[in-house]
Amino acid sequence: MSYTLTTPLYYVNDRAHLGSTYTTLACDAIARYRRLRGEQVVFITGCDEHGQKIQRTAEAAGVSPQSHCDAVSEGYRDLWQRWQVSNDRFIRTTAPRHRTLVEQFFARVEASGDVVEGRQQGWYCVACEEFKDDPHEAQDPECPIHRKPLEWRDEVNLFFRLSRYQGQIEELIRRPGFIAPASRRREVENFVAQGLRDFSISRIDLPWGIPVPGHPGHTFYVWFDALLGYLSALLQESSTTGGDDADHANGDLQTVDLNQVLARGWPAQLHVIGKDILRFHAVYWPAMLLSAGLPLPERVFGHGFLTREGQKMGKSLGNVLDPEVLLERCGRDAVRWYLLRDIPFGEDGDFQQQRFTDLVNNDLANTIGNLLNRTSSMARKWFAEAVPPLATAPDLEHPLAQAAAAAAQQVGDALDALEFRSAAEAVLQLATTANGFLNDTAPWKAMKTPGQEETVATDLYAVLEASRLVAVLLAPLLPELSSRMLLQLGQQPFASDQEQAPAGAWLAAQQWGGLQPGLPLPVPEPVMQRLELDGPL
Ligand code: MSP
Repeated sequence: MSYTLTTPLYYVNDRAHLGSTYTTLACDAIARYRRLRGEQVVFITGCDEHGQKIQRTAEAAGVSPQSHCDAVSEGYRDLWQRWQVSNDRFIRTTAPRHRTLVEQFFARVEASGDVVEGRQQGWYCVACEEFKDDPHEAQDPECPIHRKPLEWRDEVNLFFRLSRYQGQIEELIRRPGFIAPASRRREVENFVAQGLRDFSISRIDLPWGIPVPGHPGHTFYVWFDALLGYLSALLQESSTTGGDDADHANGDLQTVDLNQVLARGWPAQLHVIGKDILRFHAVYWPAMLLSAGLPLPERVFGHGFLTREGQKMGKSLGNVLDPEVLLERCGRDAVRWYLLRDIPFGEDGDFQQQRFTDLVNNDLANTIGNLLNRTSSMARKWFAEAVPPLATAPDLEHPLAQAAAAAAQQVGDALDALEFRSAAEAVLQLATTANGFLNDTAPWKAMKTPGQEETVATDLYAVLEASRLVAVLLAPLLPELSSRMLLQLGQQPFASDQEQAPAGAWLAAQQWGGLQPGLPLPVPEPVMQRLELDGPL
């Protein structure tokens, strides 16, 4: 069985920001973890390219919507590659294959009797692409999220009969683990308890959308179309770079068999999204799938929002953190570490530059990096540039062996539960314990005492082995630092990116005693540069 997980499909009205980078890097850690466990993973990301918001953005830029979408989605694809994101699919909702799938899906929903005509009146936020329930201000209401004026809409269009699914949705959201973290469940429960109302799934006079078959003048509401991207992604060729580019180039790739998604990774095990789009994923989307007779995703995880130095990020404030700048000035390991280690996944978080540099320098450069560096220098100096010899088999009762076993257990448990922070803390704790052991045993002193060589060899072996375990356990979180550390220890790094690890290799590498005594150690180089930032990011 494969493990399918998704990021949201990002709107192409603008370039990627820290929020989309956060979700994508978190999903990447999960995808890597699952592959390291030997599972077959389908990690989906992509772009949501239709709707009024995109149409207006393109108009304002004086370009056609298609060329606007081409440029921005290419930017996303390229950005994720440079962040070394290991997505298996990159879906664009303007791909011809996607359009065909949407038509087929709609045909099923229509055949279920779930499409009716109705009149839609209400206040609409174009930035959210969503009708707002009850604006607080009667006059000139604005969107509470975007602080932009809402627009009054009154039109006849097609509705999806969501109200028919009240009972099934109530049952679904009660299912333990369907909405995670559990704290987000209440909000959805309250919404559902008010009684589900049918929602409109088409727009009239909106050319930038997929035409609704059999209903001239209607295009699909962008959310109806976008959620289906999770399915059409599965019908793509498996490639990060080919995928729907090939589709775009080849307009006749339109044979789609919706049932095939079942053999290609549907239902998804996990949708990771920001908390603002929970309702779409936990209510609308399951109802649409029920209507089309398809199985439901197992879990919808709504993470929190990131602020910067306590303030909401926004263009008008000029405080948006640009992932390009982060990548260039800080590097992938540093940013991944900060986002995964400092922000409890599921809660809101605040990006603070000082804290960011402190954590990276203390945790990665000092605690983890220096541990390996100084231990391997000592081993090379005193033991013929190699892993020190052992008189007996590696001692599984050694305090560091036990610390390593506890860390490995915690990393597995934490990543199963999507608790990145706890996983990161477990790795760090192991490095801290190993540093403490090194300081207590002070091999640099013991080496001066005659007859202590064997003890020093045993101690250094244990610390090197603990460093290896740190590197092994870091693999899903910081793949690059993990690889550099393993190479420094004369070990093979783990399969990278989309590759599936040989089943069991990662777990086997977590066993104490993997380092071979006598193995030559390369000349140590710092595995993690300190972060010295000149001025604000
Ligand atoms: N296109 C829709 C998703 C369709 S999924 C079928 C969309 N796109 S988005 O680009 O506007 O947002 C993508 C994600 O970024 C959302 O999950 C949103 O919650 C997240 N974030 C936007 N700003 C954010 C922060 N400041 N912090 C963390 N995540 C944030 O919605």
